Amino acid sequence: MEYRSLGGSGVRISAVSLGTGGQWGGRVDQQAAKEIVSAALDSGINYFDTANIYGTWYDGRPLAEELLGVALEGLRDRIVLGTKGMQRLGDGPNDWGASRYNLMNALEASLRRLRTDHVDLYQIHLFDAATPMEETMRTLEDMVRSGKVRYVGASQYLAWQICRCNDLAERFGWVPFVTTQNQYNLLERQAEVELLPFCRERKVGLLAFFVLANGLLAGRYTQDAPPPPDSRAAAFERTRRYLSVYATPGNYNRIERLTAWAQERGHTLADLAIAWVLAEPSVSTAIVGASSVDQILANARAAAWKLTQSERDEIRALLNDETA
Ligand SMILES: NC(=O)c1ccc[n+]([C@@H]2O[C@H](COP(=O)([O-])OP(=O)(O)OC[C@H]3O[C@@H](n4cnc5c(N)ncnc54)[C@H](OP(=O)(O)O)[C@@H]3O)[C@@H](O)[C@H]2O)c1
Repeated sequence: MEYRSLGGSGVRISAVSLGTGGQWGGRVDQQAAKEIVSAALDSGINYFDTANIYGTWYDGRPLAEELLGVALEGLRDRIVLGTKGMQRLGDGPNDWGASRYNLMNALEASLRRLRTDHVDLYQIHLFDAATPMEETMRTLEDMVRSGKVRYVGASQYLAWQICRCNDLAERFGWVPFVTTQNQYNLLERQAEVELLPFCRERKVGLLAFFVLANGLLAGRYTQDAPPPPDSRAAAFERTRRYLSVYATPGNYNRIERLTAWAQERGHTLADLAIAWVLAEPSVSTAIVGASSVDQILANARAAAWKLTQSERDEIRALLNDETA
């Protein structure tokens, strides 16, 4: 496994990491969670990504953190653990947001569920336009000083929002965001316009998510057939909504070309999707979801495939060529 810097910080995380967002607490139960975590560790994965909102889609409880907390018992010191707060978890007026009030409560609750006294990377899940940036950044500084958090990151922020927050942090001597999370994959490359150049320039690491486009870039779906019964699209409306945006005829054409290109080189489409994201230097890790041990083992192996510049150019041509 290759290890990369967590943004501009000194800590090293695996180039491929495990996400618990899509289905932990839904299709991934406690036993499966333990097996997937154990296989991930054995294959060199050391970054595990969760959030207080994950798993609430199924019965209202933050199940992903609970399952991960149990699965990590006895293993905590070997891993870099990331979670997030900000999204709404209750009906009260302060049960969401990047205010000091909500974030402090959210962090304490996450620590309890994760059965740990600190989180390595605490991330603000979404930008909160209603809370002053100074309030959020000062709160994050206090969390780090308390020893409950080691590094802080943004998630789904625009480049200028991270820039402004980090300028404030620099001015006041507070901890800056070392990372941000954003969707980045072969079919969704909006991040290349502004976010990635910003990340390169300011040494903010991108923790890329939806690298496999919910399974679309792992060959799980075909244009003319219903989702396979063992897929998450068959199980979850959330995944069907995602596919309604990305599973277009044009993207299926791209997928066909990419699959053939990968197979000619002895790889799968999922390998290519991971290798593509990892070819971007500002990516700290490709966070991938997995519903089985075999999937996480295959995804970890994909980190070894290094695309050359000319291969990346060929892939760009395949993506853009609508007529081929
Ligand atoms: N910061 C944010 O706002 C944010 C937002 C979204 C996600 N995330 C993070 O990103 C993580 C990953 O997202 P995700 O799991 O939703 O989507 P994903 O990684 O794009 O897709 C994962 C799905 O792809 C399929 N798959 C995975 N490996 C495979 C393999 N080797 N071969 C064939 N199929 C494979 C599985 O589908 P089946 O289960 O159907 O087999 C799996 O559930 C989340 O867990 C979360 O940690 C962050």
